[in-house]
Amino acid sequence: MSANPITAIHIQEAAAYIAGRTSLKPEIGLIMGSGLGVLGDHLENAETIDYRDIPHFPISTVEGHAGELLIGTLAGRPVVLMRGRFHMYEGYGPELTAFPVRVMKALGVGSMLVTNAAGGVNTGYEPGDLMLISDHINLTGKNPLIGPNDDALGVRFPDMSEAYSKRLRNAAKETAAKLGLTVREGVYAGLLGPTYETPAEIRMLRVLGADAVGMSTVAEVITARHAGIEVLGISCISNMASGILDQPLSHQEVIETTERVKSQFLGLVKAVIPLF
Ligand code: HPA
Repeated sequence: MSANPITAIHIQEAAAYIAGRTSLKPEIGLIMGSGLGVLGDHLENAETIDYRDIPHFPISTVEGHAGELLIGTLAGRPVVLMRGRFHMYEGYGPELTAFPVRVMKALGVGSMLVTNAAGGVNTGYEPGDLMLISDHINLTGKNPLIGPNDDALGVRFPDMSEAYSKRLRNAAKETAAKLGLTVREGVYAGLLGPTYETPAEIRMLRVLGADAVGMSTVAEVITARHAGIEVLGISCISNMASGILDQPLSHQEVIETTERVKSQFLGLVKAVIPLF
């Protein structure tokens, strides 16, 4: 078992660099999934920081650019937004995948919104549905808290009985109702990827109680809970999971669906931020 490569020094150095680039003190962290980074364009007084410039920050390998951290105000609240996130299928360990969450905490973040694109496992769902994450099943076989525990960061055995805040989920439900948006609520199964699942794996996930499946989020949320950060998670059901429809899965479909519902998704996010 390898030791956790992230130490308090790495977190402090990254946070100190970021704090030196802005006078804002972010309260809310936003981790935006594929295609949703455009929310960054809606920030006011935004400072943009290239991941490459932040000490110890990983660099995203999927989207053709390193990724950026934006700090600004959204709906009057100071936020820090990740444009580009890290996935374990890129080869990063779970601690590095979740390193930005540690840095957000060090910057003063107390609550966090995590979004992602996910496959619909629940056959009642449709591509384009938005799902508030009520809970997750970590099937990655990994955990960002493995290794010696730093008690200054959180407890050895963190409670996960309300990983996704009921308060924030209720706020999101009320906001969606006001906007006339229908939202689902369900369980997100987090897998390692990068292959999409087989039909047999999807049948297994359904038996286990999953409503949606994806390749991100769980390491970040585990780390956030360890750090005492309150979490809201929203999935965009970008496609029906493997074996449900008689068609192959593709990243193209994922991109097209998120693009189609982007304005609804961003509308919901912007309206819910003041309730954080
Ligand atoms: N499976 C896993 N991850 C995903 C999917 C899927 O069907 N769609 C978007 N991310």
